[in-house]
Amino acid sequence: MLDSLFGFIEASPSPFHAAAAAFERLAAAGFVGTGRGDSWSELDVAQGFVVRDGGSVVAVRAGARVDPERLRFSVIGAHTDSPNLRVRPQPDSGTLGYRQLGVEIYGGVLLNSWLDRDLGLSGRVTVASEAAEALADASAGPAGPLANPTAHFPFWDEPDPGPATVLWRCDRALLRVPQLAIHLDRDANDGLKLDRQQHMTPVWGLGEPNAAGFREFLADELDVERDAVVAWDVMAHDLTPPARLGRDGEMYAAGRIDNLASCHAAIEAMAGLDAVPDDAAAVVVLFDHEEIGSDSATGAGSPILADALERIAAALGASREQYLRAVARSLCVSADGAHAVHPNYPERHEPGHLPALNGGPVIKTNVNVRYATDARTHARFAAACRTAGVPHQIYSHHGNLPCGSTIGPITASRLGMSVVDVGSPMLSMHSARELGGSDDPAMLTTALSAFLVSD
Ligand code: CO
Repeated sequence: MLDSLFGFIEASPSPFHAAAAAFERLAAAGFVGTGRGDSWSELDVAQGFVVRDGGSVVAVRAGARVDPERLRFSVIGAHTDSPNLRVRPQPDSGTLGYRQLGVEIYGGVLLNSWLDRDLGLSGRVTVASEAAEALADASAGPAGPLANPTAHFPFWDEPDPGPATVLWRCDRALLRVPQLAIHLDRDANDGLKLDRQQHMTPVWGLGEPNAAGFREFLADELDVERDAVVAWDVMAHDLTPPARLGRDGEMYAAGRIDNLASCHAAIEAMAGLDAVPDDAAAVVVLFDHEEIGSDSATGAGSPILADALERIAAALGASREQYLRAVARSLCVSADGAHAVHPNYPERHEPGHLPALNGGPVIKTNVNVRYATDARTHARFAAACRTAGVPHQIYSHHGNLPCGSTIGPITASRLGMSVVDVGSPMLSMHSARELGGSDDPAMLTTALSAFLVSD
């Protein structure tokens, strides 16, 4: 399971790549690919289908016999995005003989963790339509353009004709945010101060800045004319591959554990389903933009999940009345990273709630509903863990610190659905390289599998 997670993390330097990798995994497991703009009414929901839109995914598989009077949804939600540095639209800058790329900070980045790392770039690029056609011809292999999500290929959900969007990544060491030498900053170890505008601009070459330098680079990478590159959503990623860590490899280190570890567990649970109980529809939803508050067309603040559930219900023959009754008896597991206790900062943790690495999935609670767990949903996820034969742990935040949040409360308030917030314990959350327990990915996957087939 850990090797599979490592492969997923490496395939997913951006949310768009994560969504493509999840789509591919489910397509390989027999799920039919479709689009938000396509009709779902003729689809075989018992076979399963999967929809991708940008950095978001919705996948569903229903039981063989669904009585619309008794329909219910078992939903797992997670997010594909992670805090990082994103390239501005006019990024070319530099001074004193350096070429630099202007970046904007995405989400709650631990800024210091991005210093002195060799960084690659990935994301999506819009190119003019003629160039897109040439790219489509070049990238369509025997299994179609989705055969390799690590290569660039056209998004099929873009309107045609017109500009097309291609997925792109570069794993060469392109960028670096160099830290100031200790001799020039004697106070660095007494509290490093980093200015988001001034100190986080990566270097990516030597010489005079060229006003079209980045556009030219992308054009070279995609093998199109410079003017064919219209716009981009491109971000940096640390090039260090995921690795086991520790005396006996009992931990692992990687970028984007928050929240690709949960995405991976959800997708593996879905892909590995033998059968879904009658009257149930198993649903996995992966949202983009959780790290910046979820308000976007593909975030948890959007109607994509509510709309998908209603359309699934309709495809299963349910009326709107029956759909609304189904929501009332459904449960969503919101899966996201949980804070393991930190050995060097025990005072930051609530002493009665200290999740351990390799201790199993964590049920996250907060009476102010920063997490959506309540006593009933807590009990239902604990029961799924018991069925799966994995231990579970409980988290409650330190009383003096503001608590983080997840897609859980947003999903609960948008749909009026019961939600439990869970996740694998981890350290260094929002660092460019985070730390987890090597046994936790398999335990979370097993628990989510048990949840999807629970009554
Ligand atoms: Co997260």
